[in-house]
Amino acid sequence: MKKILAVMLAVLMLATMLCFTSCGAKGNTLDEVKEAGKLTVATSPDFPPFESIEGGKVVGIEVDILNLICEKLGVELEITQMDFDSVLAGVQSAKFDCGMSGITASDDRKENMLFTVPYYEAAQVIVVKEGSAIKGKADLEGKKVSVQTGTTADEGCTEAGLKVEAFAANADAKEALKAGKVDAWIVDNLTALQMVEEGDGLVVLEEKMTEEPYAFAFAFGSEDLVAEIDKILKDMIADGTVEGIFEKYGETYFKP
Ligand code: ARG
Repeated sequence: MKKILAVMLAVLMLATMLCFTSCGAKGNTLDEVKEAGKLTVATSPDFPPFESIEGGKVVGIEVDILNLICEKLGVELEITQMDFDSVLAGVQSAKFDCGMSGITASDDRKENMLFTVPYYEAAQVIVVKEGSAIKGKADLEGKKVSVQTGTTADEGCTEAGLKVEAFAANADAKEALKAGKVDAWIVDNLTALQMVEEGDGLVVLEEKMTEEPYAFAFAFGSEDLVAEIDKILKDMIADGTVEGIFEKYGETYFKP
């Protein structure tokens, strides 16, 4: 009897501990962020033109957007780099205030985190080797594709029953195709066009696989912070600021 009680107690203690580390995690409020004087942002900067590394610094469309938002909030933008799947986990567990990674605001993800209003309508595309027999979505059946781990491409291709090889780094997903280890690389449209370079022997197919709104992600608990950012972001979309940033990077803007 004593033993059973001891085991039950141990289980209870473990459950409480786990709850403190995960269930207890709550995103910062607007006041807390203002008090800290900074917005902590997690990113996977392997996603041009939204975020990439240039001269040791993270640059891109999303950096420009968040910089303007932080200016309006009166706080600094503090960027930490990591793999894409760690960005989602880091936001969900409130380790970081914000996820900036061309994150698709999908219904599944909305069960685990908050999203700002979407600011761009993206799509997934298929990248193949020149001369490939794959001309569109319909030709992917039974084929092997590369994706970045934890992305909507990873989720979608797995669900569709394709053979999926997932890579932590986007560049490795591209390399797998170049090396002929997979038949296609599934990735977001603007990033595909930016990452495929002359001499790669790769082509980005026209057909869009999906439609995906991008937004910035936050942990539950940050509702008032997201509401404030939404106000700023909506204004930036309405007055053409966001479109101007896309133009600066040579991209056409698609409003969600
Ligand atoms: N939009 C896709 C998603 O949310 C891919 C994002 C990948 N982002 C990155 N920074 N590597 O799953």
